[in-house]
Amino acid sequence: MVALITHDRSSNILEPSCGEGVFLTSLKEQGYNNLNAYEIDSSLNNSHHFVRYESFVSAPINEKYDVIIGNPPYIRWKNLEEELKEELEVSPLWKRYFNSLCDYFFIFILKSIEQLNDNGELIFICPEYWMNTTHSRTLRDYMLNNGAVTEIYLFKEAPLFEGVISSFVIFKYIKSQRTEQISFYKYLKKSKPTKEDLIGKTCFERQDIPQFVIGERWILANTEKRCSIVSLEKACEKQALLLFDSDANMCRIGDFCDIGNGMVSGLDKAFCVTDTSVLNEDEKAALIHVYKAKDLQQYYNITDSYYFFLRDNISESAFRRRYPHIYTKLCSYREDLLKRYSYGRNLQMWEFAFPRNETLFKKEQERIFVPCKERISHKQYFRFAIADSTTYPLQDVTAILKKQNCKESIYYILAYLNSGMVFEWLKYNGIVKGEIVEFSETPLASIPYRCINWDDEREVGCHNNIVKYTQQYVKTKDIQNLSFIEANLNTLFYE
Ligand SMILES: C[S@@+](CC[C@H](N)C(=O)[O-])C[C@H]1O[C@@H](n2cnc3c(N)ncnc32)[C@H](O)[C@@H]1O
Repeated sequence: MVALITHDRSSNILEPSCGEGVFLTSLKEQGYNNLNAYEIDSSLNNSHHFVRYESFVSAPINEKYDVIIGNPPYIRWKNLEEELKEELEVSPLWKRYFNSLCDYFFIFILKSIEQLNDNGELIFICPEYWMNTTHSRTLRDYMLNNGAVTEIYLFKEAPLFEGVISSFVIFKYIKSQRTEQISFYKYLKKSKPTKEDLIGKTCFERQDIPQFVIGERWILANTEKRCSIVSLEKACEKQALLLFDSDANMCRIGDFCDIGNGMVSGLDKAFCVTDTSVLNEDEKAALIHVYKAKDLQQYYNITDSYYFFLRDNISESAFRRRYPHIYTKLCSYREDLLKRYSYGRNLQMWEFAFPRNETLFKKEQERIFVPCKERISHKQYFRFAIADSTTYPLQDVTAILKKQNCKESIYYILAYLNSGMVFEWLKYNGIVKGEIVEFSETPLASIPYRCINWDDEREVGCHNNIVKYTQQYVKTKDIQNLSFIEANLNTLFYE
């Protein structure tokens, strides 16, 4: 990071939260001598005598610097000490730009920029997520209104700091500068980078990406990918304007589908029934058909299982009489079953720990399942799979069921969710932690959705074709259907 500074050795440099002074030491070693620093924790072992043990948040705003460099504190509002919250509550900058959904490091970025001279450089390492979230928009827009990002180094899940699992970025930003291109470096190794990796910029894939745009999320992708993401959103916006009222925002999956995380047994091996032939009729009637994440493939399932699932209020002796085989099996796990987290209930040994969203899953309609977490380092698709009306999702699966207002077929939604454009959209807009994309309710609900205009024959034709080819693909696994699906989706979205 020190090597990214282009100002000369006499420039006025600030480290706003210097900890034990690693940056200061490195700056000194590189010949920078005009150094300033803040740190609130005076108990830290820091040998640099010039450090001011005061909060940077309240430091005089009129002190200007040529370079501000560091690793600011990342703390969510709810985890902030009372004293720091009180300080923020009276900070004019915090009050103007941020709120309690924002992270503590936002003020370090924004205030640092305020305190840079024109052409001053801000070089920070911090988590990546704020480039993409809604509540950090004011910070991003402030940055673009006052300068430009010139370099970004993305480390994804590489273990930069011991015990911290997060995707980190180093960014360089220049105040009052207009730059069209950002040099974007993606770190390719899984292990911690060595000094040589960093200085020589080996182990990075470099790409020039266009400058970010005010009002938009910061998507670390080239123009082509950004265009495809933006045009997906535009197509969904245009359709919402046409079909609903002119003030309507873009439609999203959550407007047309209910989404629910799968049920939690608390001890799957106890509830999973592998041999149903020995069961009596009551026991068979108490089985549910389930999919776990490992059962899912793109479009369809490859395996499945049956779980014992009982909701009746029943005594242990009655349970043993009615469900003898299940009882024997559960008893062999009794100790572990009783240790399960009970979500505040008086949990019987034979009950699921958390049968969440059961009412939703009982609906008699086909549904789409997706693993609630998916690693995308080695694949270019997600596994949205169809499931029939009697199949339940377990804990590591999230289910999508149509709401009443949704006229499109569930197979249209299945094809759409499995499409390349949704994959790209989710890769850059979903909840992505390192190489893992999360599919809980909120990120799934936020996927843009393109409704069909049922008055437009061409659209209805495309919809019906997509449904037909998707059903055929699920049934026959003949991959030719996939190109027909793609062609029809392209007609809907891009023509
Ligand atoms: C992530 S650590 C980084 C320390 C140092 N920059 C480094 O990289 O080793 C963040 C530091 O910020 C300090 N800090 C937290 N709030 C601060 C504030 N309001 N003003 C100055 N320093 C602060 C913490 O005490 C901690 O030492």
